[in-house]
Amino acid sequence: MGINMDMKDMLSEKRYNHCLRTKEMAEKLCDRYNIDKKAIDAAFYHDICKELSLSDMIELIGDKYANDIDGMYNKSILHGYAGAKFLETKLGILDEEILSAVRYHTTGKKNMTDIEKVVYISDAIELGRDYPNVDKIREKVFENLNEGILMEIDYKIKMLIDKKVAIHKNTIEFRNELIKEVYGEK
Ligand SMILES: [Fe+2]
Ligand SMILES: [Fe+2]
Repeated sequence: MGINMDMKDMLSEKRYNHCLRTKEMAEKLCDRYNIDKKAIDAAFYHDICKELSLSDMIELIGDKYANDIDGMYNKSILHGYAGAKFLETKLGILDEEILSAVRYHTTGKKNMTDIEKVVYISDAIELGRDYPNVDKIREKVFENLNEGILMEIDYKIKMLIDKKVAIHKNTIEFRNELIKEVYGEK
């Protein structure tokens, strides 16, 4: 794997520390649910491109994921796609499971693997996070991974509605699938 220098060059100290805490949370979840430890590396690198400009992100990504991105060319959606491309092309990380976990850590998507789920939720519940109910969500994640993630997504979607911003289709598809996994077909 790459060394920490890469991350420190790319990120402010504050965001670097967030990545370290996300990695620590991923370690705990990998232990708790016996999930492949490559999730820990992906968690550490997940925000590597978060501080690039929008035009740098777009240039890095190219048009391969245009369908997936579905017109939502903003930094919050794109930094995962840019991060995956950066890891692949600049750091030589070729493991598609790691790249995919980084690519989809903000939106989630349909058919998330355990590795992808761990990165997604570790980002949201790392110990520096402070939003209403984060303690309850964290507790639920350790009790039942899918139920905990569903709690977090519901919170996130409500927040996006309050902010009057668009909700990416992948997030809706991720939620729909978790609803099936948790409650069965409805
Ligand atoms: Fe992120
Ligand atoms: Fe993050």
